[in-house]
Amino acid sequence: MSSGLVESSAPGKVILFGEHAVVYGQPAIAVPVSEVVATATVEPAPTGSGLTLVAADLGHRFTLSGAPRHDPLAVAARLTLDYLSASAPDATIIVRSSIPIAGGLGSGAAVSTALVRALASFIGHSLSRGEVSRLVFEVEKVHHGTPSGIDNTVIAYEQPVYFERGAPSGPERLSVAAPFTLLIIDSGLPSPTKQLVSRVRDRWLRDPEGSAALFRQIGDIAREARHHIETGAVDALGPLMDKNHTLLIELGVSSPTLNRLVDVARDAGASGAKLSGAGHGGSVVALIQAEKIDAAIASLRRAGAARVIHTTVE
Ligand code: PMV
Repeated sequence: MSSGLVESSAPGKVILFGEHAVVYGQPAIAVPVSEVVATATVEPAPTGSGLTLVAADLGHRFTLSGAPRHDPLAVAARLTLDYLSASAPDATIIVRSSIPIAGGLGSGAAVSTALVRALASFIGHSLSRGEVSRLVFEVEKVHHGTPSGIDNTVIAYEQPVYFERGAPSGPERLSVAAPFTLLIIDSGLPSPTKQLVSRVRDRWLRDPEGSAALFRQIGDIAREARHHIETGAVDALGPLMDKNHTLLIELGVSSPTLNRLVDVARDAGASGAKLSGAGHGGSVVALIQAEKIDAAIASLRRAGAARVIHTTVE
């Protein structure tokens, strides 16, 4: 048990190719985004006070024993303690995050990852990335029902991944042969993952063959993109993003707001753009050359983007 303060963090993530289709067994590609971050700090508390969970940004404060059953922090803390066969320490865990909530950037998985790491380390355990990823997956299940596992994987491993649900060899690290720059554009609208995943499921139940054909085409894009990322053919990625976005529109998960931000990004010089994450709201990701970033950010802000960040994948 640590007698001092312990702090852990976890990055956000962005899905470059393959969202939704990944739930149906197709591959997807995601990269960590270290420009946004979740942190968890564990401070020792007086003997007998138990474990207190504080979501600083939301103004929530619970004891673990008094927390609502499905509170995400409480679920993550309980799963971690059960996994380590440990009892709740006398401590306070304070969680903060600069990742927009329901913004398609993995805020929930990042907060859980930071908490799991900090709590395990406070009680004297160092968990592997795989162990953290599996625990966070269990937390994600409580909130999303049928997550593919891509969010917990890319965030807990903190590296670009080529992800296939249930792949026996586990997640594959993607090697990036030539760096490329992305704009991540927050629409400011929430992206309710669970609802959008069930909208796609309804579509699939209504039209299994048509939906499966869309999933396959999206999977083919992810396979092709992997090859281009691993060989440094960055220019080929933009058109694949555009194609992936068109298929996501057909799948029914885009919205006028996201389509408009995609168009503005392309008009401002992005070589490709698509929605990222579950859709409806959340984020758009665009591939852009470094010298065009400032002008593109200005155009996107004028077009109503709530926030625009850029990140380099290398
Ligand atoms: O919106 P996010 O960041 O939670 O991403 C969801 C990605 C989906 O493919 C739509 C769902 C999943 O579990 O993979």
